[in-house]
Amino acid sequence: MVTGESSTPAAPRLRRSLLWVPGDDERKLAKGPTAGADSLVLDLEDAVVPAHKVKAREIVRDSLLHLDFRGAEKLVRINPLETGLALDDLTVTMAGGPDGYMIPKVRSEDDVRFLDRALSNLEAISGRPQGSVRLILLATETPEGVLNIRRIAQASLRSAGMMWASEDLSSALGSRRSRRADGSLPDVFAFARSACLLAAAAAGMDPLDMPYFEFHDDAGLEREALEAAELGFTGKGAIHPAQVAIINRVFIPSEEEVAEANALLAAATEAFARGQAAFVYKGAMVDAPHINRARKIVARANAARESGT
Ligand code: COA
Ligand code: MG
Repeated sequence: MVTGESSTPAAPRLRRSLLWVPGDDERKLAKGPTAGADSLVLDLEDAVVPAHKVKAREIVRDSLLHLDFRGAEKLVRINPLETGLALDDLTVTMAGGPDGYMIPKVRSEDDVRFLDRALSNLEAISGRPQGSVRLILLATETPEGVLNIRRIAQASLRSAGMMWASEDLSSALGSRRSRRADGSLPDVFAFARSACLLAAAAAGMDPLDMPYFEFHDDAGLEREALEAAELGFTGKGAIHPAQVAIINRVFIPSEEEVAEANALLAAATEAFARGQAAFVYKGAMVDAPHINRARKIVARANAARESGT
């Protein structure tokens, strides 16, 4: 609802940068929290070889218990359900008290509901409030996931974010490449990315862009992150600490954007006082969507300031 007040909604949790750390690498686990990422993703899946899967769970649990995460969100990426490893991943690492889980290769809403029930049970056992453990879903890694994405996004109130990713989809499809030579996305991958953005926005979750793998190419990372931010993605995965500062900067509005948003909100307050919900601002018509967008920009800037960045 639009009112004449220029007040802004409560600051959302910022999830601009989500840094992956291999769950069996104690050196990187110790280093991860120093990178300044909003979220750390302690990985049990693709960054861990099969022979280390069991050991990595325990290392991740102990890291959760003993490392100082400096206020970063503590996430664990478990193995996909069909590997048979996922439930033990949850059971062992819940003892470390993570804030949430990243779920790879989600195929349908049934996958999410199953995990939701498992977490409710583990919350009861460990004395944590029901529904408090969050989910970040990777729902474009399989063809089924892309096709079911809207229902996946709406399957659980725990779901806080949804990240799109192309590499596993590409391998499931048998695509020879997921990028054109100029770096742009072939149609099916652009579709998956848009589907993630739309489904996450429709469900009120954070839409998150996939990581940029060439971690020595800062300019390429900045370009891709900026494009995602301009579309409405609110954050991006990172695979290397050096990517975090660039991502954090790109996913908060610039000073000019904030000043422009505040000016528009001030003009809206005056227009509402005159009884006008649609009004002329800088030669163009402005109404509710522009005002709501300006509010979101100011809210994100406030959240960034509150998080000290
Ligand atoms: N988290 C924490 N620390 C990291 C890190 C990460 N993701 N990536 C690199 N570092 C550390 C390194 O350990 C090194 O620290 P040190 O100098 O104290 O040893 C420092 O940052 C510089 O690293 P660098 O030498 O540039 O990179 P690397 O060759 O050690 O590692 C990768 C490169 C890609 C293997 C590494 O960045 C990585 O493991 N990324 C995450 C992979 C992953 O989890 N993938 C799954 C999700 S897609
Ligand atoms: Mg993967």
